[in-house]
Parts: sequence; structure tokens; C-alpha cells
Amino acid sequence: MKKISKDDAVRGLVPHHTHGSVDYTSVDQGHVHQCLDVTSPPIPTPDGGHIHYTEGYVVFEDGHTHYYRAYSGPAIPVGEGRHVHYYDFFTTEDAGHKHRIRGVDQPAPGDR
Ligand SMILES: [Fe+2]
Ligand SMILES: [Fe+2]
Repeated sequence: MKKISKDDAVRGLVPHHTHGSVDYTSVDQGHVHQCLDVTSPPIPTPDGGHIHYTEGYVVFEDGHTHYYRAYSGPAIPVGEGRHVHYYDFFTTEDAGHKHRIRGVDQPAPGDR
């Protein structure tokens, strides 16, 4: 039996899938941080869909780093059997400032 891979197109909710993302924070105090993230597996929501949790550090820059803990938005179908999630959150405050991180993660299998 063939197992589902990250680039496959599948109907329904795919258990255990995660999403990667490569992004930059907002500019604050004259610098940005890279944010290289992989989410948790799906967390079911009452409407039959799912969201994802994520936490980690942004890449060190300008003498400090920041931590973040966040939930994604709901699944957004982007065509036959694939979906993405929007994210929008703030890092912890360190060295007297915080950063906003927002964008869309990489598509994963499943249409809800
Ligand atoms: Fe997902
Ligand atoms: Fe910073």
C-alpha cells in the first residue's frame, strides 16, 4: 500500500501532516529575524476541520533571539486535495521589542 507523501493530493483530512514555512519577521529596531518553522500535526476543530500549533525560536540576529507560540488559522483549500493555513502572531518581547510574523505556510495534502 502506498503511503501519502507531502506533495500528494488527497481528499479529506490527512492525519499526521505538518506544514513547513520560511519567512521573515517584521522590521523592528532596524532588523528582522528569519523564521524557519514546522508546525504540529493537525488539531481537530468542532467544524470538522483542523488547525496547527507551533512554537520555537527565530534565528539569532542583532545580539538576541525571540520565542513564539501560536496557532494557525483554519485550512484553506488551494485546489484538488491540497490546503494551506494563514498565520499571524507576535514573538516574545526581548531586548525591548517584539516582531510580528504573518504569512501562508507551504501546502500539504488534504482538502479540509
Ligand atoms: Fe493542515
Ligand atoms: Fe528582534
